[in-house]
Amino acid sequence: MTPKISFRDVVKTYELKDTTFTALDHVSLDVADREFLTVVGPSGCGKSTLLSMAAGLLEPSAGQVLVDDAPVTGPGPDRGVIFQQYALFPWLTVRHNVEFGLRIASTPAPERRERAERAIELVGLGDFADALPKTLSGGMKQRCAIARAYAVNPQVMLMDEPFGALDALTRVQLQDQLLTTWSQEQRTVMFITHDVDEAVCLASRRVVVMAARPGRVHAVIDVDLPYPRTEDVRLSPEFTRIRNEVWHAVYHQNLTTTAA
Ligand SMILES: Nc1ncnc2c1ncn2[C@@H]1O[C@H](COP(=O)(O)OP(=O)(O)OP(=O)(O)O)[C@@H](O)[C@H]1O
Ligand SMILES: [Mg+2]
Repeated sequence: MTPKISFRDVVKTYELKDTTFTALDHVSLDVADREFLTVVGPSGCGKSTLLSMAAGLLEPSAGQVLVDDAPVTGPGPDRGVIFQQYALFPWLTVRHNVEFGLRIASTPAPERRERAERAIELVGLGDFADALPKTLSGGMKQRCAIARAYAVNPQVMLMDEPFGALDALTRVQLQDQLLTTWSQEQRTVMFITHDVDEAVCLASRRVVVMAARPGRVHAVIDVDLPYPRTEDVRLSPEFTRIRNEVWHAVYHQNLTTTAA
């Protein structure tokens, strides 16, 4: 089957004053249709760079990034992007922030309202639809950003450490919510995180571990855990085994022999 997203031999270099810095060194990776793929790795290994290329916000120096077998030439409504810094418009209410993407896509007003409403309910912000971002907590702002991406109904969600700034409890709640919507709607998700537990808990079948200097795929670790990913699953010996394997691949990269 054709992969939904395909990175083929992707290289990204930056020209610095007197050297060339290789941010990504020949990365090849396929994300299957409807897969929830998680990517974990040390700071600076090129995770955001990779995601930005799939989003069409950055071009590779060499190699190809394909979505549905077509080269990515820029951002598009088929791909929703959620950044760590939730970029909400402070002067717009939750509802109008969520409607924003649909407005750009010239969706007619009644449909816009209905889709925004549904997305706001989905992330549990129904009571705050008319609130301004400054009155929301960090977790609520992030849920608003997620609702905005959902409202456009993209086939692909690209998420760059979306829960990184949140407290542990909110983080687990949003993870559960994200898994529930994913299992209902079966989108393709590429999810970047620093958190090994989060990477294992969310991955539908694989965690990609990257390494730095130069940025590359270091290991791909299989995840075969049952759904729903309940607390029992998170505390199971199998979860712990996979978590330890990912942890080892991330934090002992020089010692690990697993090749991607
Ligand atoms: N415009 C740029 N010019 C030069 N170097 C850059 C530029 N953008 C990114 N880099 C370098 O590319 C490398 C990869 O950056 P990237 O942001 O993708 O890392 P990351 O894995 O997302 O890190 P983090 O976990 O800290 O978010 C880093 O070493 C960074 O310094
Ligand atoms: Mg990053």
